[in-house]
Amino acid sequence: MTHAITGARTDTVAGQGIVILGTGGTIAGRAARAGDNVGYVAGQVSVGDLVAMVPALAEMPMDVEQVAQVDSKDMDFGVWKALASRVAFHLARPDIAAVVITHGTDTLEETAFFLQRVLKPAKPVVLTCAMRPATALVPDGPQNLQDAVSVARWPGARGVVVACAGEVHSAFDVAKVHTYQVNAFDSGDAGALGRVEEGRLRLFRDWPEAGGLGPFDAEAAAQVQHAEALPRVALITSHADADGVLVRALLDFGFSRPAEAVRGIVVAGTGNGTLHRSLAQALRAAESAGVRVVRSSRCARGPLISGVGQAFVASEGLSAVKARLDLSLTLLGV
Ligand code: SIN
Repeated sequence: MTHAITGARTDTVAGQGIVILGTGGTIAGRAARAGDNVGYVAGQVSVGDLVAMVPALAEMPMDVEQVAQVDSKDMDFGVWKALASRVAFHLARPDIAAVVITHGTDTLEETAFFLQRVLKPAKPVVLTCAMRPATALVPDGPQNLQDAVSVARWPGARGVVVACAGEVHSAFDVAKVHTYQVNAFDSGDAGALGRVEEGRLRLFRDWPEAGGLGPFDAEAAAQVQHAEALPRVALITSHADADGVLVRALLDFGFSRPAEAVRGIVVAGTGNGTLHRSLAQALRAAESAGVRVVRSSRCARGPLISGVGQAFVASEGLSAVKARLDLSLTLLGV
């Protein structure tokens, strides 16, 4: 992955500069017809051109860099590594106050969680996105990008957050909850961190915790950069009429290809993380074979409430996709 500087602007004021990193998504999407909000190709417009669509950003000290140009459904460890590397590089610059990232909505919550979990930044890292392509009759990307920069410049801001549709969400709680509406994100029971109104932030709760001594956790960042791949963790779901076939197939795969064996399984259980008994039986066998098993829930809201006699470790309030990533990073030693 190359890290071409597509449009480094001059005049960066000491300590107040913003870097905008582009990774693709619908915000950079292009459709053949302006009215088409669905049949477009994501990741077509450069981040420099996205910034140029927002008049309020024209006079700000800002560097713009294209890290990737992908539909975020195809997000992978290679792009995450490149992104974490560039975010860390810019956070370490004394002239830079914050990093803003343009990203697709589909896996935005995973990237946000990955960056928070690995970097625990002391400066703000604000991801933003759009549900309508750049060519739409009314694109939502320009306002979201302008709001993201307002959040990034807000005094006291820190950690990885998401700015979309006038709301700001913590990397821990944010989830995409709608397939089509422009306000597609929600923070469940925790609620949004704040709202952006005409460039001002109305904050409801505290920013995500920073870790480490410097602008980010350099040790964790280095561990990720040294890894060739994330430890394989599968995500499966418990449902009516479930059985253990998938779990047994994962174990068989590991026996035939030990280097790529599944090291963990996150299971999105029913309700409070309950599991179909046939699936639970297969998961117990996997655990006996050395596979780490973590329970999460299929429910959109609410953490797992622990009780007596529950099998398997619970996901500590993380959604199933974030619990999968969390276990994978834990297995990596991060
Ligand atoms: C993507 O996630 O890259 C495509 C969908 C979107 O951004 O809304």
